[in-house]
Amino acid sequence: MADARPFHWEYDAPAVAPERFLVTGGSPLEGTIRVSGAKNAALKMLAAATLTGERCRFTNVPEIEDVRAMTETLSDLGVVVDHPAPNTYEVSAGDVDWLFVPLEAAAKMRASFMLLGPLLSRFGEVVISNPGGDRIGRRPVDLHVDAMRALGATIDYRYGYYYAKSNGRLRGSEIRFPIVSVMGTENAMLAATLADGQTVIRPAAQEPEVDDLIAFLQKMGADVERTYPDTIEVNGKRRLRGAEHSVMPDRIEAGTFAIAAGVTGGHVILEGTDCDTMNALVEVMGNAGLSVSCGPGRMEVDARGLGPGGIKPVDVETGPYPALATDIQPPTTVLLTQANGDSKVHEAIFEDRLEWTGELAKMGARIDLNGPQRAIIHGPSKLHAATVEISDLRAGASLILAALAAKGTSSIGGAHHVRRGYENIERKFLDLGARIERVQEGGSKPA
Ligand code: EPZ
Repeated sequence: MADARPFHWEYDAPAVAPERFLVTGGSPLEGTIRVSGAKNAALKMLAAATLTGERCRFTNVPEIEDVRAMTETLSDLGVVVDHPAPNTYEVSAGDVDWLFVPLEAAAKMRASFMLLGPLLSRFGEVVISNPGGDRIGRRPVDLHVDAMRALGATIDYRYGYYYAKSNGRLRGSEIRFPIVSVMGTENAMLAATLADGQTVIRPAAQEPEVDDLIAFLQKMGADVERTYPDTIEVNGKRRLRGAEHSVMPDRIEAGTFAIAAGVTGGHVILEGTDCDTMNALVEVMGNAGLSVSCGPGRMEVDARGLGPGGIKPVDVETGPYPALATDIQPPTTVLLTQANGDSKVHEAIFEDRLEWTGELAKMGARIDLNGPQRAIIHGPSKLHAATVEISDLRAGASLILAALAAKGTSSIGGAHHVRRGYENIERKFLDLGARIERVQEGGSKPA
């Protein structure tokens, strides 16, 4: 029988040597790269695999630090995780030893909280710490907790831990979210798959990663369906079975490299993705004057010959899908520094997701913040090399983009943030002709 009692976790934090990216910019990126599997789909599927005692197999999983952290957390709970080949993971949660997700595991990423719904629903109890994650603003978990309560769970919060219990099976229910939440929707949906009766989730997040998770759950035998764009219906089953799934391509990674072509005046072909999940970004890039062509399993961005000032200013606003993703706002902001005029950026999802533009300004960008969530980008700016620090994953990738557009060699600290979510980012940039290396603080190359 698994144990949900919290205990003092003897945790030896691994000594992570701080690393920096050294990036020499000023030349156009050209070439073809293959897009990796989506972080924000893979992490949820790894958590969803605990809904069954049978083996689940995932391919096209990105080899990133967040996946490593999630699989380590699962192993610590007693789940068997195999990694038989690169990008392939097998998860067997026949039984678990602990129904306790400690702070040290949870602090590594927000997606750790995705274990709440499945463990509570299958085992009837779990103790889980407040999650960590990127520092991009307040990121409460009240909507997750309210959704579990709507399904009949009792949840107490004490000293940073949620003590969740169900009295027998959770009960299907109507879950009405006051705002759209990606992980809130996903946690509710995972919990509902094993609940007694029908659950209706509204408004449900419409992000493509949610639909990829639905596709995986259906393979597990779950009765879950998006019945309207903003509505997901689940009819709970007593058991789910093991399943195999190939994770969808990462649209944020694809968008980051697409914008790399734009900011460097280059030409990049992305394989393994299509534009269907990126319509809002394709529209922004088109309005900015970039040539974007889309085909099955392929996206091509050509900014050659645009010349100085050839990029047009565009006003952008982020929002829940299908609007422009908040995760692609930082790279888009870098693109707009090269536009011929003023662009407005409204970050409507996270309150501190423009803070990193202070670092971008150190590279010569001219940005006026109008409150924490609105900025005016005065373009075009001749970016120059600088020493800057990464505060979160997408800001990190965006500082690399800015450095690639800048003359000289920039030194970008906090490389570990980027490695959390981008598979082999230096290799991919090198394949496009970039000059980039990752070094340990002090200069030596990492092993
Ligand atoms: C997911 O976070 C992604 N993370 C984020 O990606 C992404 O930026 C975000 O969705 C929005 O698209 C993962 O999938 C692991 P939300 P999530 O709940 O689900 C508020 C990246 O760079 N809110 O949709 O945590 C919240 O503060 C990352 O890959 C509450 O108020 O985001 C925000 O303003 C960063 N209470 C809004 O809802 C809650 O309980 C939307 O957040 C939950 C959220």
